[in-house]
Amino acid sequence: MRTVEVGVGKPYRVEIESGLLVKLGERVLACGIREGAAAVIVTDGNVAPLYLGIVEQSLKSSGFRTLPFVFEAGEKSKNPETYLRLINFIAENGIKRTDFIVALGGGVVGDTAGFAAATYMRGIAFVQVPTTLLAIIDSSVGGKTGVDLSCGKNLLGAFYQPRLVLADLDTLSTLPDGEWKNGIGEGVKYACLKGGRILSLLSDGIRDDGAELSEFCELCVRYKADIVEADERESGLRKLLNFGHTLGHAYEKSSGFTIPHGVAVAMGIAKMTEAAFKHGEISKEDKDLVLGLLDRYDLLADAPNGNELIDIIKLDKKAEDTEFINVIVIKGMGKCEIRKVSFDELVEYIN
Ligand SMILES: NC(=O)c1ccc[n+]([C@@H]2O[C@H](COP(=O)([O-])OP(=O)(O)OC[C@H]3O[C@@H](n4cnc5c(N)ncnc54)[C@H](O)[C@@H]3O)[C@@H](O)[C@H]2O)c1
Repeated sequence: MRTVEVGVGKPYRVEIESGLLVKLGERVLACGIREGAAAVIVTDGNVAPLYLGIVEQSLKSSGFRTLPFVFEAGEKSKNPETYLRLINFIAENGIKRTDFIVALGGGVVGDTAGFAAATYMRGIAFVQVPTTLLAIIDSSVGGKTGVDLSCGKNLLGAFYQPRLVLADLDTLSTLPDGEWKNGIGEGVKYACLKGGRILSLLSDGIRDDGAELSEFCELCVRYKADIVEADERESGLRKLLNFGHTLGHAYEKSSGFTIPHGVAVAMGIAKMTEAAFKHGEISKEDKDLVLGLLDRYDLLADAPNGNELIDIIKLDKKAEDTEFINVIVIKGMGKCEIRKVSFDELVEYIN
């Protein structure tokens, strides 16, 4: 089994392997949650028919009581209404501080369930069981939880670390192609930030080979864990993980969330890379490498210009004041930097 320790707050493990779902109950016991506790399993309408049964069975056989909460799949459900329905469900079922939440699904489930765990009774334990590539390599690790408001993504949220992350790579066998692509968008982000083996695995193609897929997932999680350990609350270094996201969030929002998160991030990465080349900040070779990688995974798409997006960007959490925003600029593979720019400079940079 591939394991990454995340040494932040109460340290926890990210376990990555095929066939882990059946072991969920024993892994939860091993991380200190007591037998007999109730497990609120939060999942969505696509994941429930596939994996809820096996997860319930595993938890029950380790002596846990299970209470499933299923909501409609998709980003549109990541909102305060779903969050409040979940919180009421938890409260009405008499969940106590010693009980816990299991987030079974992609980033939408993880972010929503994690926020409920962070806020119910000022915090109860939660376990991430990510079932999308995006959630395995990114959203299940690092403790960002929250829901979207109508005026912007992730505006209502909390930093709250899970007790355990259990990533069963077998769940990716049912992932639709579009969702696979979505996860690769965040994968390209790691390749740009770190370069090295993450880049070569992605360049060679990770889909076909199980061993390479698990290595890729481990390396992405390890990179993120290192950053989160150094800067849990995103006061500095962690901002790097937002490469492609300032524009990405705006593309997502302006499309009415029809463009999925990872694809929007890929569009943001492409735009920032082209802009860096135009301004002489990245070599042609590295620019072609990034765009070639995106093209290989069918992630190149037309993106709207900066002026149309600027109002949305101003509402983004990353806009630290009314005039300036932090953006991540790419100067080569494994060479990205945080830069504070005015909104006008950002529009000029990307147009
Ligand atoms: N918290 C963080 O640090 C962080 C980081 C990156 C992204 N995010 C958030 O994550 C969300 C995107 O996550 P996502 O891409 O996983 O989207 P998602 O949770 O909507 O999942 C995508 C789709 O795949 C389906 N699905 C999930 N697992 C499946 C499986 N194994 N087989 C078949 N279908 C499956 C889901 O039902 C859904 O329809 C966004 O809201 C984004 O803001 C959070």
